[in-house]
Amino acid sequence: MSSKRSIVWLILSALPFILNLLGTSPAANSKTLFISGATKGYLAPCGCTKPMSGGIRRRATLINQLKKPGDFVLELGPFAGPLGRQSEIKAEAQAQALREMGTDAFTLTKQDLQLGTGVIESYTRLSEATLIDNTTFLTTPDWIITSDTNAENQTDTITIARSLISQSSGKPAILVTQSNEESAEQIARALPELSLIIYASSSNPAGVAKRVGKTWIASAGDQGKYVLTFTFTNSGFESPSVFDLGPDITDNPTVSRQYSQYLGRLRAEKLVERMPKPRDDHYAGSDACMSCHTTEHQIWTDSKHSQAWATLEADGHDADPDCVSCHSVGLDSTKGFLVKERTPHLTDVGCESCHGAGYNHIQAPEKVKMPTVGKNSCTPCHNLAHSPNFDFEKYWEKIKH
Ligand code: HEC
Ligand code: HEC
Ligand code: HEC
Ligand code: HEC
Repeated sequence: MSSKRSIVWLILSALPFILNLLGTSPAANSKTLFISGATKGYLAPCGCTKPMSGGIRRRATLINQLKKPGDFVLELGPFAGPLGRQSEIKAEAQAQALREMGTDAFTLTKQDLQLGTGVIESYTRLSEATLIDNTTFLTTPDWIITSDTNAENQTDTITIARSLISQSSGKPAILVTQSNEESAEQIARALPELSLIIYASSSNPAGVAKRVGKTWIASAGDQGKYVLTFTFTNSGFESPSVFDLGPDITDNPTVSRQYSQYLGRLRAEKLVERMPKPRDDHYAGSDACMSCHTTEHQIWTDSKHSQAWATLEADGHDADPDCVSCHSVGLDSTKGFLVKERTPHLTDVGCESCHGAGYNHIQAPEKVKMPTVGKNSCTPCHNLAHSPNFDFEKYWEKIKH
C-alpha cells in the first residue's frame, strides 16, 4: 500500500468529520468524543482473508490524526478475550496502545472483572486512563459518564443510570451499557434525561446511531474494528460519524513496535507449548503418507495448505496460540504438534488435518482404515471468521485428489 494512497484515504474519511467542524457551529468550544473498543482480545485482524478491519495499530493512527486538544477518547470494554495468560499479556499491550492514542477513560465489563484486580490495575496504570465502572462515575467539565459494569439485568442498569442522572447536576449524562440496541431504546424511553447511551453490538455501526426522544443511542461495533465520533457543542451531542479501520489506514509506528513486543512475549513464555492437550491421537505427518499416496501427496504439496506454517512465520505469529491451531496438525493432542523444533513434520495444514490421525493406518494400512471424510472436515478451520468466502465446491476444486 503506497503511503500516498493512505493519506488520500485518511483525508476522504475525515471529510464528514471536517465538515462537521466547519458546518453547523464553528463555536469555539466544539469538541469531539471518540468511542471505540469492545476489543475482546482482537489486537489485530488475523489476516486470514482480506480486507479485514480493525486493530490497535490502525486505530492509533486514525485517532492521533483526528484528535485535537480538548477532545475526549473513550475506550469500551470488554478488552479481554478468554481467560488465561495470553489475555493478561494482551491487556498490557492494549493498555500501552491506549496511552499512545491519548485515551482519557475506559469502561469495564463483567468479563474484564474476571481477569482479576492485578490485571485491571496494570491496565489502568499503563493506559493512564481513568477507570469507569458502575461505582465510579467520571465527571468532566462537559459531561458525566458511567458504565453498567456489574448489572445483571435491565433493572440494574436503570438503577445505575438513575444515580448517574442524580449526580449529573444538569450536565449531559452518558451511559455505557452491555445491553443490546432494543434494551438501549427501552432505557432511553424510561430515562429521557440521558443524553447518550452506548450499547454493545457486534455489527457494523455505520448509520446505526439514532435518537429516541432527545437521547442518542449508538454502538461502536466490536473487536476494535470501528471508531465512532460525536461532535459536542453547547447544544449537546451532534453528527455521529463512523470510521471503518480498513487496511488503507497505516499502522502507527509506536504501537507497531509494542505489538511486536507482545508477539515476542508470547514466544518467550512458550504459550503454544503450554496449550492444553486433551487428546492423544497419534499423528504421523504428511510426508509419511507419500510413499503409498504419491499423487495425493503431490497435489497437497502444490496447495496452499502445505504453506500454512510459512504464512504464520512470515507474520511473526508462529508462537501465537490464537493462530497455530488451524495452521498446524493435531495441536490438541499429546501426539500432535508441539513446537516446530520438536515436531517439524506437523507444521502446516496436513493430510491428517482433514483425514484424522494416521500413525496406526501406516503401520497396517489394510487393517486400520482411515475414516471417510467430507465437507465437514473443512469447517472447523474454514469458518465464518477466518474464511467468509468458503464454498466447498469451489475450494475443493483447488485441492481435489
Ligand atoms: C479457525 C482457524 C484459523 C485460525 C485460528 C487462524 N487462521 Fe489463518 N487461515 C485460516 C483459513 C481457513 C485460511 C484460508 C482462508 C481462505 O482462503 O478462505 C487462513 C488464511 C490465513 C492467511 C492468508 C494466507 C494467504 O494465502 O493469503 C494468513 C496471513 C493467516 N491465515 C494468518 C493467521 C493469523 C496471523 C492467525 C492468528 C491471529 C490465524 N491465521 C488464525 C484459518 C485460521
Ligand atoms: C504403507 C502404505 C500406506 C501409507 C504410508 C499410508 N497409506 Fe493410506 N492407504 C494405504 C492403502 C493400501 C489403502 C487402501 C486400504 C483399503 O482400502 O483396504 C489406503 C487408504 C487410505 C485412505 C482411503 C480410505 C478409504 O477407506 O477409502 C485414506 C484417506 C488414506 N489412506 C490416508 C492416508 C494418510 C493420511 C496417510 C498418512 C498419514 C496414509 N494414508 C499413509 C496405504 C498407505
Ligand atoms: C486445519 C485447518 C484447515 C482445514 C481442516 C482445512 N483448511 Fe483449507 N486452509 C487452511 C489454511 C490455514 C489455509 C491458508 C493457507 C495459507 O495460504 O497459508 C487454507 C487454504 C485453503 C485453500 C486455498 C485458498 C486460496 O486462497 O487459494 C483452499 C482451496 C482450501 N483451504 C480448501 C479446503 C478444503 C476444501 C477443506 C476441507 C476438505 C479444507 N481446506 C480444510 C486451513 C484448513
Ligand atoms: C483439506 C483437507 C484434506 C487434505 C489436506 C487432504 N485430504 Fe485427502 N481427502 C479429503 C477429502 C474431503 C476427501 C474425500 C473426497 C470425496 O469425497 O470425493 C479426500 C480423499 C482422499 C483419498 C481417497 C479416499 C477416497 O475415499 O477415495 C485419499 C487416499 C486421500 N484423500 C489421501 C490424502 C493424503 C495422503 C493427503 C496428504 C498428502 C490428503 N489426502 C490431504 C480431504 C483432504
